[in-house]
Amino acid sequence: MKKNKIIIANMKMNGSLSFNETYLTTIKDKFNKFKNLSIGLCLPYPYLFQAKKILAGTKIRWGSQNVAKFENGAHTGEVSAAMLKEFDNKYVIVGHSERSTAYCESDENIADKFEKIKKYKMTPVLCVGETLIEREAGIMERVISSQIDAIVKIYGAEIFEDSIVAYEPIWAIGSDMAATPEQVNKMCNFIKDYIYKDYKSDFLNLNIIYGGSVNSKNAVQLFASESLDGVLIGRASVNIDEFTQICSTAENS
Ligand code: PGA
Repeated sequence: MKKNKIIIANMKMNGSLSFNETYLTTIKDKFNKFKNLSIGLCLPYPYLFQAKKILAGTKIRWGSQNVAKFENGAHTGEVSAAMLKEFDNKYVIVGHSERSTAYCESDENIADKFEKIKKYKMTPVLCVGETLIEREAGIMERVISSQIDAIVKIYGAEIFEDSIVAYEPIWAIGSDMAATPEQVNKMCNFIKDYIYKDYKSDFLNLNIIYGGSVNSKNAVQLFASESLDGVLIGRASVNIDEFTQICSTAENS
């Protein structure tokens, strides 16, 4: 049976009550026609209640862009996995390079967050990827395997069951320089093989998606690739026309 393509929108720090009202209502009304897609909208924390209010009962799910690595307690400014769960949060983006760079997020922090997401039965969208310098040096596979190892070392490979890994080369994010379908194919296959083979686990559900300057034009070629389970969309996801077009392409691929 053909798997549903996964479409995750990373809305980043965009939106407002009024923007979201229109955006979410439009998605609720227009996106029912997509039968072959699993769609998740990752909003800023304060708007999760609004997503729940508008999207509950539809096939569209919502999620967050981060989570605390702690269970609860004296962690000013943090939001726990249990709190997210109260809003029926399904997806949690974890390890996004914008956070690792600006907020000094270590691989160990990311591993602990990943574990909390799984503990509360949500779906992690783990971002891995190399910088341009690392790609030019030809060490992208080494970089990505060490990002994966940081989680496996502490929690074992089985934790990747029911998870999503997003290959997001840092040079492709926000740059209008998406990776080529060949590069995406190669890295997605590498990630899948690395998690499956090196750890000899028998997963039932592990999805590898691509993120970095996905738009309605490059989506056509990207979705032609067999190895791609879906996409993580930043800027283009807050433009409803672009977003609809990418979803239509995925639906018909
Ligand atoms: P972009 O962002 O699509 O705007 O490049 C992708 C991401 O950061 O997840």
